[in-house]
Amino acid sequence: MGRIYDATWGRGFAALYDRGLKAPEEGGLREMRREALAAASGRTIDLGAGTGANVGLFPPAVTELVLAEPDRHMIKRLRSKIGAVGMDVEAVEASAEDLPFEGSSFDTAVFTLVLCTVPDPAAALAETARVLRPGGKMLFVEHVRAEEQGLARWQDRLEKPWRFLADGCHCNRDTVATIEASPLSLEQVEHGRVPKAPPLVRPLARGGAVLPG
Ligand SMILES: C[S@@+](CC[C@H](N)C(=O)[O-])C[C@H]1O[C@@H](n2cnc3c(N)ncnc32)[C@H](O)[C@@H]1O
Repeated sequence: MGRIYDATWGRGFAALYDRGLKAPEEGGLREMRREALAAASGRTIDLGAGTGANVGLFPPAVTELVLAEPDRHMIKRLRSKIGAVGMDVEAVEASAEDLPFEGSSFDTAVFTLVLCTVPDPAAALAETARVLRPGGKMLFVEHVRAEEQGLARWQDRLEKPWRFLADGCHCNRDTVATIEASPLSLEQVEHGRVPKAPPLVRPLARGGAVLPG
C-alpha cells in the first residue's frame, strides 16, 4: 500500500477543492474531462483521483474503476462520492509512484490535474507503464508549462508560493515532455486553456499515450 501523502495544509485544501474548481468545471473543464475519459475502457485506474471530479464521467466501457489517492483528506471526500456510480468501483489509498497492483493489470490509466502535483512524475509514469497491459492507454488532462515565454517565466518566478497555496502543485512543469520521456508512447496531444483558471495554471494539455505492446 502506498504511503499517506503529507499535505502542507491538506485538510483545508481538500475542503475547498470542489468550490475552487466550480467555475472552471462549469466553464468547460468538466466537458474536457468527459471527452478525455470517453476513450477509457476495461479495468481503469484514476491516479490522484482527489475528491472524485471524474466520478460519474467514465463511459460504460469501463468495467472496473480503481480510484487511487494518497491524501487522507481527499480520499475521505472521494469515498463519500462513489456510492452512486453504478459500476464496480473502489477507492485505494496509494501514490502514483508506488501502486499496490500487479503488473499489466489495467487497460486504462487516467491522470487529470495530477502530474503537476505528484512529487516524482517520471516515477509515476514508469509505475503506470508497469501496471498497464501492453497496448493499454494512458489518458490525461493536465495544466502545464506555458509555451509562451513571458508566462513561463512568471510560472517559474511564482512556482514556490503557488506550490504552497495549491498543496504541492508545480505550475511550471513541462508534463508533455515528461510523458514523451516515459516508457509510454504519446499518441495524441492538444493544447488549450483551463477555462476560468488563473493565468499561472491556464495552459492545458490533453491527450493520450499507449504502452507499446
Ligand atoms: C489538483 S488535485 C487533482 C484531483 C483530481 N484528479 C481532479 O482532476 O480534480 C491533485 C491530486 O494529486 C494527489 N497527489 C499528490 N501526490 C500524489 C502522488 N504521489 N500520487 C498520486 N496522487 C497524488 C493529491 O492528493 C490531489 O488529490
